Amino acid sequence: MTKEFHSEPFDEPTLTKLRLYEAYIKSWLPVFMTNSVGVSEIWLFDLFCGPGKDCNGVKGSPLILIDALRVYLNRSSTKNPPQVHVVFNDKKNWKIEQLKAEVESAPTLPQIVSIDYYSTQYETIFPMTATVASRRDTACFIFIDQCGVNAIEDCYLKQLASFPITDWLAFVASSQARRFLKHKSIKFQLQERGEWRDAHRTVADTCRAIIAKPEYYIVPFSIKKGCNVHGLLFGAGHPKGAEIFINACWAEDKNAGEANFDIDGTIKNSSKMLKLIPSKKLDAFENELRHKILKEKISNTLEAYQFALRLGVKASHARQILKIMKTEGLIASAPPLSYSSVVSQGNINPIILRK
Ligand SMILES: C[S@@+](CC[C@H](N)C(=O)[O-])C[C@H]1O[C@@H](n2cnc3c(N)ncnc32)[C@H](O)[C@@H]1O
Repeated sequence: MTKEFHSEPFDEPTLTKLRLYEAYIKSWLPVFMTNSVGVSEIWLFDLFCGPGKDCNGVKGSPLILIDALRVYLNRSSTKNPPQVHVVFNDKKNWKIEQLKAEVESAPTLPQIVSIDYYSTQYETIFPMTATVASRRDTACFIFIDQCGVNAIEDCYLKQLASFPITDWLAFVASSQARRFLKHKSIKFQLQERGEWRDAHRTVADTCRAIIAKPEYYIVPFSIKKGCNVHGLLFGAGHPKGAEIFINACWAEDKNAGEANFDIDGTIKNSSKMLKLIPSKKLDAFENELRHKILKEKISNTLEAYQFALRLGVKASHARQILKIMKTEGLIASAPPLSYSSVVSQGNINPIILRK
């Protein structure tokens, strides 16, 4: 019999997942509450929410969200936030009843927050979620913390990527998809088996192929649990969400910003000198970015910024490479390269080659 997830203490991989979720939510709330022009409502969906705590009282995703909302909405700097709707769903009714009791016993939230509880299957709640997320005046965040892989099968993925102002985060048991390739119980089918350590990256590649929108952001974070490599997958049409998630990933993994283990087998840091050796991920990124600039495939700061995000690398890493290229006399200048410069202010500068 499978163990009940919440009757055991959350293990370290689960805590990693929850830290990334919390970091993302805390940065997402201020952005969407204050910056989204024309957004009249915010909807936050936790479609596999659980009862709120593990058996030791450690908070899970729904209570993390409630705490983050309370902190943000009670800040004196928070001005005129829009209406906030929270939807909690879990197929197990006892978990929803327990969660309701937890939320009711916690300090109350401001009146602009409403919470709806459902106890139904994902396939039943998803169409209702889709109706809300399809609106052009509504910003949504959807958390899909499934135990397997089927909640991101093609029909769901394509819809998630079609919603106008929706960011989503899904847990995917990627090693399961790899192990049971072509098994009929697995509705999310990988394009190829790939390497063991790359199981979650292969899931991300498959999702990109299914969504088939080159401008859409899919950012994976691999989470090793025993001999399995599962992970979180973030999706958004807008660079701000991708940047927030990527920053959270780099805070978690200083080596590659991508995993809770040494995903590219970087040299072990056994001496102080070796700390100077940059990660393989950043080396690869530097080579690619240099190549694209020198071949004029990337010719301005917006393209360089988007390229960094698509590879799960921070804009500051890309800027650093521009500075080095300038010092080497390869380009004329290293213009600002950040969300606020290239997207918010539309300050897109050419990257001029010195020939
Ligand atoms: C990994 S746990 C979620 C943990 C939760 N995010 C937390 O932090 O505590 C997955 C949850 O999904 C629920 N569940 C499993 N299959 C489901 C389905 N098809 N539809 C809705 N809920 C489901 C389970 O009862 C379980 O509570």
